[in-house]
Amino acid sequence: MKILVTGGAGFIGTNFVHFVSREKPDWTVTVLDKLTYAGRRENLSALEASGAVRFIHGDICDPAAVSEAMEGAGLVVNFAAETHVDRSIQAPSDFVRTDIEGVRVLLEEFRRIGGRMFVQISTDEVYGSVESGYSREDDPLRPRSPYSASKAGGELLAMSFFHTWGVPVVVTRASNNYGPWQYPEKLIPLFVTNAFEGLELPVYGDGLNRRDWLYVEDHCRAIARVLEKGRPGSIYNIGSGQERTNLEVTEAILELTGADRSLVRRISDRPGHDRRYALDVSRAEAELGWRACTDFEEGLAATVEWYRANEPWWREIKSGRFREYYMAMYSERLRESRERGR
Ligand code: NAD
Ligand code: DAU
Repeated sequence: MKILVTGGAGFIGTNFVHFVSREKPDWTVTVLDKLTYAGRRENLSALEASGAVRFIHGDICDPAAVSEAMEGAGLVVNFAAETHVDRSIQAPSDFVRTDIEGVRVLLEEFRRIGGRMFVQISTDEVYGSVESGYSREDDPLRPRSPYSASKAGGELLAMSFFHTWGVPVVVTRASNNYGPWQYPEKLIPLFVTNAFEGLELPVYGDGLNRRDWLYVEDHCRAIARVLEKGRPGSIYNIGSGQERTNLEVTEAILELTGADRSLVRRISDRPGHDRRYALDVSRAEAELGWRACTDFEEGLAATVEWYRANEPWWREIKSGRFREYYMAMYSERLRESRERGR
């Protein structure tokens, strides 16, 4: 079986490619990745060197690159996307391009070659903010950020290929992933590495926004189940049921890193900040026989240990263009917060 993994040099893609190489040694893996700021080819270098993975540097919006990468593929998992909500608020254009138009290019080629299963990786953010209860797959979509609106566009387009031409498409909507190889712009790796560096931990607003935290290995297992058992034309929620407020996550990171509580800073909020996401995962349990099995505190401890053991990986990222991003995103808000004594 030949599988194309797009965005395989990013956080979840890297974990998934390692997972597949371990669990499905008879599969042939091709990765197509544009290597944006979030993509790191070195994450896959051992697998490339051993011949387990073929890497193609290219854009999912480029039909020629997609055609080369998809040749002979029975399975496609599309992780490639612009993924950071804060960046989508600064500049939405790349989000619309990759997260919608890129999906179209992939689907057209997949339809042309008659592949067996196309998995479009979507997000729980398409449901919008859920103040109470749990989102089910048939609930209305109410995305509220340029990121989540683009992801909703991508998954709707994917399902349209199923309804119009019977293309075997499955959509998954996962909650907040954490674990090894996550780019340190996201809450957990940012706070863990800032804590190691003795830098402030910038909590948005009142810190009471809630997320469902899914260990990335559990997510990889879910996608493997979708590839084996997923019903074409279906949508599956993938979450852990382990909700935490951002302040609870921050507290756990302080404990695991031994950093001082005085590093915590409450800064001005993300515009349109969704309060809560929460998923009903009964369909994935019933149809895929999947459920998350990593306890949040254990997964977080393993994640902190990974960042401790892989300091050169994140230091290299944080010393490059990330610094400019960080200054633009945080320096003024941190200064204001210090002045207000928060
Ligand atoms: P990431 O930002 O870490 O990685 C994205 C990868 O896609 C990078 O390697 C990047 O180089 C590549 N890429 C971006 N634009 C591309 C393009 N035009 N062509 C080819 N490659 C391109 O993202 P992630 O956190 O690993 O997320 C992977 C997928 O999972 C995304 O579709 C995201 O929406 C979805 N998702 C993420 C989470 C999460 O918590 N991280 C949760 C639910 C769903
Ligand atoms: O829910 C799934 C989504 O999870 C994915 O689809 C996205 O790709 C992924 O980025 C993530 O989105 P979030 O916006 O929830 O993740 P982020 O890590 O950016 O933020 C998590 C929470 O922490 C959120 O309430 C905002 C808050 N936060 C984040 C950062 C970066 C802070 O308080 N301070 C910060 O510096």
